[in-house]
Amino acid sequence: MTLPEYLAHQQKRVDTALDRWVPAESQDPSIIHRAMRYSLFAGGKRIRPLLAMAAADAVSDDPEGVENAACALELIHTYSLIHDDLPALDNDDLRRGRPTCHKVFGDAMAILAGDALLTLAFEALSKLPDVDAERRIRLVAELATASGTIGGMIGGQVNDLEGEGKEPTAELLESIHRAKTGALLRASVRMGAIYAGAEETQLAALTCFGEHIGLAFQIVDDVLDVEQSSEALGKTAGKDAQQNKITFPAVYGLERSRAMAEQERLAAHTALRAFGNRAERLLELADLIVQRKA
Ligand code: IPE
Ligand code: IPE
Ligand code: MG
Ligand code: MG
Ligand code: MG
Repeated sequence: MTLPEYLAHQQKRVDTALDRWVPAESQDPSIIHRAMRYSLFAGGKRIRPLLAMAAADAVSDDPEGVENAACALELIHTYSLIHDDLPALDNDDLRRGRPTCHKVFGDAMAILAGDALLTLAFEALSKLPDVDAERRIRLVAELATASGTIGGMIGGQVNDLEGEGKEPTAELLESIHRAKTGALLRASVRMGAIYAGAEETQLAALTCFGEHIGLAFQIVDDVLDVEQSSEALGKTAGKDAQQNKITFPAVYGLERSRAMAEQERLAAHTALRAFGNRAERLLELADLIVQRKA
């Protein structure tokens, strides 16, 4: 399978599973299910679930049902985007090429849609059909920690918002990025590995890989915010400078930021050396994260 074929195939697996987990639009109260599906099925890259599935494949020959665990990551991610776009946070009008959730459904329903996706993520993990209870609990803990306030997504979002207009130091920058974005990417790789029954040494190597691509991902997100158009990104470009965000380009400039993302990509490759061919798709995903244009 070529890489584009592989990506399309894996995205389809994720979307099919998501469609099963999320209540139908017709289900009462319909408005909330419409809002959840509006943001979820708007053409996201599905990078986090793809990483989870590729990590599981690096560890086991047939990690049956891993797409269900992978879905939980996309549910959390989409909730974080809906809330990130709210007027009280980044105040964005455009997401995944469409008006943001709150623009279409109103602030109250967008807040609730985010809450509902968050809740559904943990329901899905608790009901995973193909793994034992102990593994389900490990997955729940992993996702909760990565989404939480200490070194996790919410903690990073807090520091990102409080950092607006603050002196952008290198330390603050890296801690914001590792938390707000890196933690969930790291968890994506780890959850796939845990699902597939990774041994400790495998998990350690995959964790290291996850940390490098996690940082790379947000460096590139910051660079694209400067370099690309809103049309290409499907979200408002130039937003970070406008809001005085602490970003890699703000601290290091574009050229150095690009070089730092490339360094992270190479370090991610090195982390998986012991896996040989089994990690091929993961390495391709690392390349995609750094070389993407949107
Ligand atoms: C955007 O994430 C928000 C960040 C955490 C930087 P993605 O670039 O993965 O967005 P989608 O899911 O493809 O829309
Ligand atoms: C958001 O970072 C990270 C999240 C936890 C959602 P950004 O605010 O940079 O994400 P975009 O650029 O709006 O997608
Ligand atoms: Mg933000
Ligand atoms: Mg934002
Ligand atoms: Mg951004």
